Amino acid sequence: MCGIVGYIGTQQAAPLLLEGLTRLEHRGYDSAGVAVLGSGLRVAKKAGRVRDLSAELPKRFSGKVGIGHTRWATHGPANDVNAHPHVDATGDVAVVHNGIIDNAAALRERLTDEGVELASDTDTEVLAHLIARSTADTLEERVAEALAAIEGTYGVAVLHADFPDRIVVARNGSPLIIGVGEKEMHVASDLGALVRYTTTVAHLDDGEMATVTATGFTTYRQDLTQVQRAATEVDVDPASYDAGEHESFMRKEMLEQPAAAERVLRGRLDERFGTAHLGGLNMDARETREIRRVKILGCGSAYYVGQMGASLIEELARIPADAEAASEFRYRNPIIEHDTLYVAVSQSGETIDTLLAVQEIRRKGGRVVGLVNVVGSAIARECDGGIYLHAGPEVAVASTKALTNMFLGFALLALQLGRVRDLSISEGKRLIEALIALPAQLQEVLDGEDRLAEIATGLAQAESLFFVGRVRGFPVAREGAQKFKEISYRHAEAYQTSELKHGPLALISPEVPTVAIVPEDELTDRNVGALHEIAARRGPLVVVTHPDVDLRGLDVQRIDVPRSARELDPILLTIPLQLLAFHAAQVLGHDIDKPRNLAKSVTVE
Ligand code: F6R
Repeated sequence: MCGIVGYIGTQQAAPLLLEGLTRLEHRGYDSAGVAVLGSGLRVAKKAGRVRDLSAELPKRFSGKVGIGHTRWATHGPANDVNAHPHVDATGDVAVVHNGIIDNAAALRERLTDEGVELASDTDTEVLAHLIARSTADTLEERVAEALAAIEGTYGVAVLHADFPDRIVVARNGSPLIIGVGEKEMHVASDLGALVRYTTTVAHLDDGEMATVTATGFTTYRQDLTQVQRAATEVDVDPASYDAGEHESFMRKEMLEQPAAAERVLRGRLDERFGTAHLGGLNMDARETREIRRVKILGCGSAYYVGQMGASLIEELARIPADAEAASEFRYRNPIIEHDTLYVAVSQSGETIDTLLAVQEIRRKGGRVVGLVNVVGSAIARECDGGIYLHAGPEVAVASTKALTNMFLGFALLALQLGRVRDLSISEGKRLIEALIALPAQLQEVLDGEDRLAEIATGLAQAESLFFVGRVRGFPVAREGAQKFKEISYRHAEAYQTSELKHGPLALISPEVPTVAIVPEDELTDRNVGALHEIAARRGPLVVVTHPDVDLRGLDVQRIDVPRSARELDPILLTIPLQLLAFHAAQVLGHDIDKPRNLAKSVTVE
């Protein structure tokens, strides 16, 4: 969702900016643009794809300093004028911005009253005018002054024709990273845009700014007092941002799940004492024992995995636990309890709703730990401690390997919480054995891809589908429906199997298939009973189940997954649903990595 790149150094900026923007495409966008400072400031911007912008870029677009942007429309439609960069009336100042300026309407009115003609419908344009109207001596002061007038969230990068040796950047709620190269520097909102050039990076914190020149950078707060931010080496393989021989990132990332699962477990299992070691939680055994409740917060698929996590914690640690959509949490003035452990779960670590929920909890004195994939991201830094997911970069919008590692992160947390309470050493060891076996079992499910592709071809024909499950199986169904609708654009609704007869059974017909999650557990018989009710109404059935489950003569398309420990079964039941969604979307000819209307990280409300 909106992306920023910047370059200053010895090479021509435009090709590097365009390349960086291509790397940000997965974030979701509807227009793109670049500004380059050579002999004067020049801007090119266009609705549509980065390739459309490249195709139309004037030949002589030279300059060794520049900024670029992919926009996701918030204020005003996606068109050439509203695309970033935005400039002031003289054309000397160019600004790219991620985030939302809440008081844009008032600022637009004020500027208009002062005789400024606004060219676009955007909130961002006001920043360019505010900077241009400042009479302060330095660019840093001018940008700081403009930022002081705005309310809202931002990652911004600013060019000024009178200060051609620098890019000034600032962050408040929207990520901003500086990449250090050899006699050149990069700026980006996402690590993926700059890892091809450098893996030495510095992250800005909220309320901070930086001046980036060809030879280095300085960081300071918005009151221009110095703050030290050293660049550090990030441990990331630039190749992991390439799809390689795979036709899409989603497929690549699904297939990476066994290896990713091994990474999140590595070094964290204590086989001798049947427990997990999670040093990053920053909690000692006494504090861990004092937890009376666990509240998990995440958005979308992370919320559904949070529901799986809540079950794991209740089952293994016997602590009351539940998950809630982070996007709703802060709006109900939540009661923050000191003996509750709050867990924020996020792949990107930048989801604004989750970040704001974390901030609300901390403001009220609650303790929050993060289950986050992106190291150094805003949520990771805001939390009191956490568990990094080590899934590796996830580029596809539809989250797969990060979700699997979230589940495993919850399993580790539940194990650690359980073992300082009632969970016996033998039970702990049973779980650890199952966790160690899990990567190979994930592989086994992935190996069944061909059959799943066949089933998906049939499902893709349906306009509307149900995904049903009970208790442990219900979040699995929710996540399955989410994946399916995200990339196939079919209406997929998740329901508790037990609730079907209270309403939705009326919709069951030969045209509406149901994907049912039927693990081998204490509810198998009841689940199978419900399937018979669906079959009696001639509803087609796809059943994701375990090999020993007897479906009592039902005519279904059956998908067997290997059994794990019962608490860990949900994750193995989830994997076929990813493949069903993927193959349905492929049959329908959709752009799997960039589903319509969706963005990889949702950094605006
Ligand atoms: C689904 C999906 C989204 C994200 C959600 C949270 O495939 O990707 O529903 O799970 O936007 O994102 P993160 O985990 O980055 O906070």
